[in-house]
Parts: sequence; structure tokens; C-alpha cells
Amino acid sequence: MRLRLSFVVLLALLIPLASVAKDAFPKACVDCHVKSGSADMRLSTLAKAWAVKAPAALTARVSTVMPQGAALKGKHPPISPAVLKEVPASCRKCHTATSKTIPPLAPMIHAIHFGGDKNDFVSKHGAECTHCHKVDAKKGQMAVPTGAEK
Ligand code: HEC
Ligand code: HEC
Ligand code: HEC
Repeated sequence: MRLRLSFVVLLALLIPLASVAKDAFPKACVDCHVKSGSADMRLSTLAKAWAVKAPAALTARVSTVMPQGAALKGKHPPISPAVLKEVPASCRKCHTATSKTIPPLAPMIHAIHFGGDKNDFVSKHGAECTHCHKVDAKKGQMAVPTGAEK
């Protein structure tokens, strides 16, 4: 009886461990930016708000990574359904590494998701690089996968 009980306890302890080991966001952006219950984190939903007026906190964070001499207006161009089929590869078509007018993708995404405890990505998601960067152990390389919004 005692043995069986400890087996059950052991099993109960292992289940959460197993779920931690599994990658909950294999497609990065589109696996985390989803609608669940009343919380709608989809980029399409967020972008509808940006097209009217980007939240001040977002503009403040992204302002720190603007190309020299450029400034944000705080209003995003509308995001088409085609863009939402390839996130974040399609974002990079405008957010290029060499843009002189808009924020390049990598520093923009890093600035948005890091920066201390007040950031939900840090406090709720543990600030893991591998939520976005997937490691191919065989090739020894890392890349951010692209996926369609759910
Ligand atoms: C594991 C979850 C997770 C992943 C993966 C993730 N994000 Fe986020 N993202 C968040 C959270 C949480 C926030 C809110 C941060 C805050 O302001 O507290 C956020 C905020 C944002 C915002 C700002 C939204 C706004 O209106 O303020 C953008 C844009 C964004 N993410 C784009 C992306 C892109 C593009 C990717 C993929 C390269 C990505 N995210 C990957 C969790 C994630
Ligand atoms: C058609 C070109 C284009 C595409 C595609 C595009 N962006 Fe942008 N983005 C812009 C421009 C232009 C700005 C500057 C807007 C401004 O001045 O406020 C911007 C600014 C931003 C900002 C700063 C918000 C602010 O304060 O205005 C975020 C966040 C952002 N883009 C996220 C994304 C994400 C995520 C994607 C892909 C899902 C994406 N963008 C695709 C053109 C684009
Ligand atoms: C929320 C998503 C996200 C997280 C979390 C994230 N990155 Fe990135 N990172 C990106 C994206 C998107 C790019 C651009 C990839 C591309 O253009 O193919 C990028 C690019 C990079 C690059 C390439 C250099 C550059 O500036 O283009 C490096 C290095 C990097 N990330 C390191 C890190 C490290 C280290 C961490 C953890 C501390 C991290 N990233 C966390 C999304 C993320």
C-alpha cells in the first residue's frame, strides 16, 4: 500500500516535469499570440489597435531602437491577411535590418519582450530566448520559425 502510494506521488510529480520539457511554442510568435478565453493576444487584434493609435507604452519601448534621426508616429499601417500567414518573416519585409525610417525586426522584438519584471514576457513566460529561437541541435544552429496566425 505504501509502495503504491509513493508510486502515485512520483507519477504526480513527473507529469508537470514532462509538460515543462515539451516546447509549448514550436512556431514561436503565432503559438503564444493566440486567443484564449477573454484574452486576445493575436497580432491581428493588437494591430487593429495600432492602426488607430499604438499604445504609448509600446511606442516608448520601440522608440529606443529606431534608426538614428527617425521617429515613430504611433500609428501602424494596416496589416493584411497575407502578412499574418507568415509571422514574423512577412514583418521583416518592411522591418528590414537596414531601414532608415522604421524599427528593424530583431531589436524591436527584443525591446518589446524584455526590460524587467513589469514585462509579462519576463514575469509570466520566464524571458526564455528559446520561446522564439529554436535550436537545431544536429546543425548546431538557431533560427526563429515562421508560422500562420491561428
Ligand atoms: C511565449 C510567449 C510569446 C512569444 C513566443 C512571443 N511573444 Fe510577443 N508578447 C508576449 C507578451 C506576454 C507580450 C506583452 C508584453 C508586455 O507588454 O508586458 C508580447 C508583446 C508583443 C507585442 C506588443 C503588443 C502590444 O500591442 O503592446 C508585439 C508586437 C509582439 N509581442 C510580437 C511578437 C512577435 C513578432 C513574436 C515572434 C518573433 C512574438 N511576439 C513572440 C508573448 C510572446
Ligand atoms: C507594410 C509595411 C509593414 C509591415 C508588413 C509591418 N510593419 Fe510594423 N511598422 C511599419 C511602419 C511604417 C511602422 C512605423 C509606424 C509609426 O510611425 O508609428 C511600424 C512600426 C511597428 C511597431 C511600433 C508600433 C508603433 O508605435 O507604431 C510595431 C510593434 C510593429 N511595427 C510590429 C509589426 C509586426 C509584429 C509586423 C508583422 C506581423 C509588422 N509590424 C509588419 C510598417 C510595417
Ligand atoms: C519574442 C521573440 C524573441 C525572443 C524571446 C528572443 N529573440 Fe532574438 N530574435 C528574434 C527575432 C524575430 C529576430 C530576427 C530574426 C530574423 O530576422 O530572422 C532575432 C534575432 C536575434 C539575433 C540575431 C542578431 C540580430 O540582431 O539580428 C540574436 C543574436 C538574438 N536574436 C539573440 C537573442 C537572445 C540571446 C535572446 C534571449 C536573451 C533572444 N534573442 C530572445 C526574436 C526573439
